[in-house]
Amino acid sequence: MATTDASILRARTVTRALLLATFVIGALNAAVYFAGVLQANANAVGILFVLFIGLAALQVLLGLGTVIAGVVYGLRMRREGESMATAMGMAFLGVAGAAGGVVGGVGGVGLVALAAGMGGAWGRPLRIRGRVRHPELRAGSDWTEGDRPSVEGLDAPTCAALEALWLHDAQKEHASVPAFARVAWTLIAVGAPAELVTRTFTAAQEEIAHTRLCFALAAGYGGRSHSVESMPELLVQGLDVRGDAFVHLALESLNDGCLLEDYNADVAAACRDACEEPVTGAVLACIAREERDHAELSWSILDFCLARGGQPVRDALLDAAGKLGSIPRPTAVSGEKLALVARADAAALRAHGRLPDTEWARIYTERLGRTHVRLAELLGHRDARRASVADAAA
Ligand SMILES: [Fe+2]
Ligand SMILES: [Fe+2]
Repeated sequence: MATTDASILRARTVTRALLLATFVIGALNAAVYFAGVLQANANAVGILFVLFIGLAALQVLLGLGTVIAGVVYGLRMRREGESMATAMGMAFLGVAGAAGGVVGGVGGVGLVALAAGMGGAWGRPLRIRGRVRHPELRAGSDWTEGDRPSVEGLDAPTCAALEALWLHDAQKEHASVPAFARVAWTLIAVGAPAELVTRTFTAAQEEIAHTRLCFALAAGYGGRSHSVESMPELLVQGLDVRGDAFVHLALESLNDGCLLEDYNADVAAACRDACEEPVTGAVLACIAREERDHAELSWSILDFCLARGGQPVRDALLDAAGKLGSIPRPTAVSGEKLALVARADAAALRAHGRLPDTEWARIYTERLGRTHVRLAELLGHRDARRASVADAAA
């Protein structure tokens, strides 16, 4: 640039400074994000999240400032008969920086919101329009039934954490009841055999029992009873089956039954093995056994859908097999309860059947591998059976 006009030089310096600041803040924000992802301490995660949002907002402001400064710089260059290309290039980078701040900020908030709902539990997830749902809590005892655990030797923060974790499980178990009711309804709609429908209603009844047991444990740890609020969304969005019902049943069974309920059974069994409190241990043993039955039911439903739904089901399952690894893993503790659990005595949590998320992650990796193998076998065997029938016909 040949000009030495002071106003142009000033505009260029401001634009460069704002652009540099935009990208420095963007890089810093990315570092904060990954530090938050890798951070195990709940309080630190909260601080990093606030910092992340603040930096994203600052990045957007700096990006927009760069755009304005770049345009001013360009217009001044044009006034002097100089090329605007450099100034417009910087303004464009400012737009990219601001857009990066918006996308990163919204994406980060979305991931945190997702994490808040991703705490695992011992039931089949209830999805409505793709969102995992469960009932809210209220005071009451009409869903509480079962023995109370001993809280001897537990401090108040640990009791509070155990109460919160079992209440979360009770909410998820309760949601499994309409989830199985929907499976039963859909099975009947597609003409499934009585054996599958019976097993599905049995699973729903077992989820009712699990809910009561979880509320009873929560009452024991917290010294007060809870129940559930109504779920009016089920009245208008309950069935939620679109397209090929066999494909829908097969995909839901694969994700929520074959994978997640088998994972639930694995985790419950590991928690039972760690648990030293007899009442809680007995509940975990019951849940581990019955969640395994629910997973087996889902494999049976998958087999039925393949037999009756034909090629579309097979194609959908082959496609889903490649995406199983991208299903978000249910974590040991949902996002909003991390701080509460961080204040509890970790050894006491384990003695009461609560394992850390690192162990959940290890169990999930193993389960994911087994699910992949079993699905491949199911699809392969079906092909083998079809091939043998074709050979016999020839
Ligand atoms: Fe279940
Ligand atoms: Fe359950």
